[in-house]
Amino acid sequence: MIISGSIEETRKQVKEWKAQGLSVALVPTMGYLHEGHKSLMERARKENDKVVVSIFVNPMQFGPNEDYEAYPRDLDRDSGICEDAGVDWIFHPEVEEMYGPDFSGYVDMHTLPEKLCGASRPVHFRGVQTVVSKLFHIVPADRAYFGQKDAQQLAIIRRMVMDLNFDIEIIGCPIIREEDGLAKSSRNTYLSEDERRQAVILNQSLEEAMKAIEAGEKDASKVKAIIEKKIGTCSLAKIDYVEVVNFDNIQPIETIEGNVLIAIAVYIGTTRLIDNRIIM
Ligand code: PAF
Repeated sequence: MIISGSIEETRKQVKEWKAQGLSVALVPTMGYLHEGHKSLMERARKENDKVVVSIFVNPMQFGPNEDYEAYPRDLDRDSGICEDAGVDWIFHPEVEEMYGPDFSGYVDMHTLPEKLCGASRPVHFRGVQTVVSKLFHIVPADRAYFGQKDAQQLAIIRRMVMDLNFDIEIIGCPIIREEDGLAKSSRNTYLSEDERRQAVILNQSLEEAMKAIEAGEKDASKVKAIIEKKIGTCSLAKIDYVEVVNFDNIQPIETIEGNVLIAIAVYIGTTRLIDNRIIM
């Protein structure tokens, strides 16, 4: 397994693989890898000849008061996880390699980024689209793998690929959870013991909502109310949003039908966690 910080070297290697007729997967990450990332790498490993993982904490997708500096980083640990998962190449650039001093090209879109996480993180999705576009150019892969925990991100990337004609297949992979149901996230490391115990409320509230839907509830506002009530029972939890939207265009819906995303963002203490259910 090679670790490279160079755009030129990485692109050259991927092009060589492609010229040899090999299929290439890209798993974009910000590092501090967990079981969720591992499941993406393992799926990529199964479905492709070569697997590239990018590890880059992208400053452009963090707002001024967000956790860019504090975001956990551990390349040694990450490389071990990648090695075990059979990854061929880690692309780990410095910020200067990705964003030159006069950088001014951005990728953005209307509508999809405006609600949910975009409402409380205004620059976030522009940063994600810009860096993911760059990664798709640097690593001209056949397939890219993203987790469904970041469901809005997945919907935006799918739309971006469609709208801008990127020649890459986007594969969304299921959320991986801790034993008690908390969705795996690099940000879980910020939680104190007490907060960690209470953080299960996100998954539990979504479970209750799904039970109601399975029992025939179709009214989106009632589904939202079930989630809000459950989260309200938790002393350390503060809701950022609870939304029921169409998964394809991230617009609010009144009735549960078609492709539906139930998405929540909740502060547990000062840590903002997200979780969701997708009904297809
Ligand atoms: O999901 C993430 O970790 C990041 O948003 C991504 C897709 C790697 C872009 O920086």
